[in-house]
Amino acid sequence: MRPLAAHHVRPPQLLDLRGEFPGVPADWAYLDAAATSQKPRAVIEAITRAYAQDYATVHRGVYARSAKMTEAYEAARERVARFIGGAPEECVFVRGATEAINLVAQSWGDANIGGGDRILLSTLEHHSNIVPWRLLADRTGAEIDVAPLTAEGGIDEAALVALIGPRTKLVAVAHVSNVLGAVADIARIARAAHAAGAKLLVDGCQAAPRLKVDVAALEADFYAFSAHKLYGPTGIGVLWAKADILDAMPPWQGGGAMIDEVRFERVTYAKPPQRFEAGTPHIVGAIGLHAAIRWVEEVGIEAIDLHERALLGLARAELSRMNDVRLFGPEDSAGILSFAVGDIHPHDIATILDEGGVAIRAGHHCAQPLMRWLGVPATARASFSAHSSEADVAKLVQGIERTTRIFA
Ligand SMILES: Cc1ncc(COP(=O)(O)O)c(C=O)c1O
Repeated sequence: MRPLAAHHVRPPQLLDLRGEFPGVPADWAYLDAAATSQKPRAVIEAITRAYAQDYATVHRGVYARSAKMTEAYEAARERVARFIGGAPEECVFVRGATEAINLVAQSWGDANIGGGDRILLSTLEHHSNIVPWRLLADRTGAEIDVAPLTAEGGIDEAALVALIGPRTKLVAVAHVSNVLGAVADIARIARAAHAAGAKLLVDGCQAAPRLKVDVAALEADFYAFSAHKLYGPTGIGVLWAKADILDAMPPWQGGGAMIDEVRFERVTYAKPPQRFEAGTPHIVGAIGLHAAIRWVEEVGIEAIDLHERALLGLARAELSRMNDVRLFGPEDSAGILSFAVGDIHPHDIATILDEGGVAIRAGHHCAQPLMRWLGVPATARASFSAHSSEADVAKLVQGIERTTRIFA
């Protein structure tokens, strides 16, 4: 394979973790971690052990195996809490970020937002941080405001702050854009929201796998993320919310495990987080998430971020030398790079790259308003991960060169 530019020196920040990912063969460049991450062996083994050796239900069983599983499930919650700087009782296990945001919209939103109130989003949000608020606005008569982006493609924080008014009840923004990798200054947005008496929800789906998250330092009220983008299993994620807010929120789904007492005439509810976890939870999912966080902390989240940024910098440098390639997003983005190649459709780029063993995502990335802002129907997106390598970048570059030759 053609090496990267002749003067290229291997960045010292690069990790070498490919061997820990049995699902990523050495000759495959998996550059779609922003959609879902591949799993390290430690996570796969923890999940296998949980099913093959330790499995039982949680919270209800009086036998030893169940008590042990309950301990493991709650230990996962404690590890999640430590990972993001919250308290265990502030961490609700949900199916993923989408469910976390819907939970807030339906429980907190229905109780706190009414006709004429305003919800402030940004142009670059993922549909899962738009649609639940549109549904809430349609139910309640609230209005949605949209903060613009800077020319580089980050949230224009000054413009966002200026849009916060006396009727703004909630600001909901992505910590890291899933299309452009732009990182928002959450603490700044939080201070402005709080000064106006509004709450702040942060969609941390793309931040949790690559940035140190400290919900207290960020001054967020709600923080949502999915395990499957954080080297963990699908089907589980976390809604973190400040204790006093969560405590005041009504349940949103009813069933077993979330009650205090049930009579036909009247039901009283458990305290958070159980109040929001109706039914048998994703027990092994929580154990897999615990293993994923342990793995990430052993590697070091800062090390992963530096590694991804080093590869992103290489990719940007290589691609910006190509006449036909247009790069989207700020230069200091975290781990995610969207691009266009001439007027070749991103699906064609992704198909040709796939033939060369490079997996990227092509499409609107569940961010149609952002595509409109960019003036394109879709983009090609390469997203990096702890196992990504310089060879992956070289294959990406080679695949794009091949694409331009084919379409020339
Ligand atoms: C920024 C962002 N928010 C929310 C989501 C939704 O996550 P999930 O599908 O895991 O619920 C995604 C997934 O692509 C995302 O990238």
